[in-house]
Amino acid sequence: MNVLVVNGPNLNLLGTRRPDVYGHTTLGEIEQACRKWGADLGMTVSAFQSNHEGEIIDRLHAAIGTMDWIVINPGALTHYSYAIHDAIEAIGLPTIEVHLSDIFSREEWRRTSVVSPVCAATIAGRGPDGYRMALEALNQT
Ligand code: DQA
Repeated sequence: MNVLVVNGPNLNLLGTRRPDVYGHTTLGEIEQACRKWGADLGMTVSAFQSNHEGEIIDRLHAAIGTMDWIVINPGALTHYSYAIHDAIEAIGLPTIEVHLSDIFSREEWRRTSVVSPVCAATIAGRGPDGYRMALEALNQT
């Protein structure tokens, strides 16, 4: 099974960005861990990060026919990008939404996810382990 792990805006700065909220683990370390966790489950994990909404949408479209599952942390786009909602819906691949922080206990504007309705599940507040949980959840579908 091929899994695409997508990370959105500002997640390239993990490790130095608000470590009090997001921890000290870098995106490179998370992506490497995802490849290992995936391999242990018999999955091939590809990782993609972009700070640009359109690039994320293009990558999701390119997943059609090549990927089986998607894990996505859309960053702040989570809260307002109907375009990413529509892209996830359009590609029709089982998708799990991940957030390092617990978006439901932070600022009011973070508590809404416009992508949740088209995702099979949302995992928030588990730090990098949330990505592992998403891969395990997909493995059980
Ligand atoms: C985030 C939460 C978002 O609100 C924020 O804009 C991010 C990261 C998380 O992983 O906790 O960039 O998606």
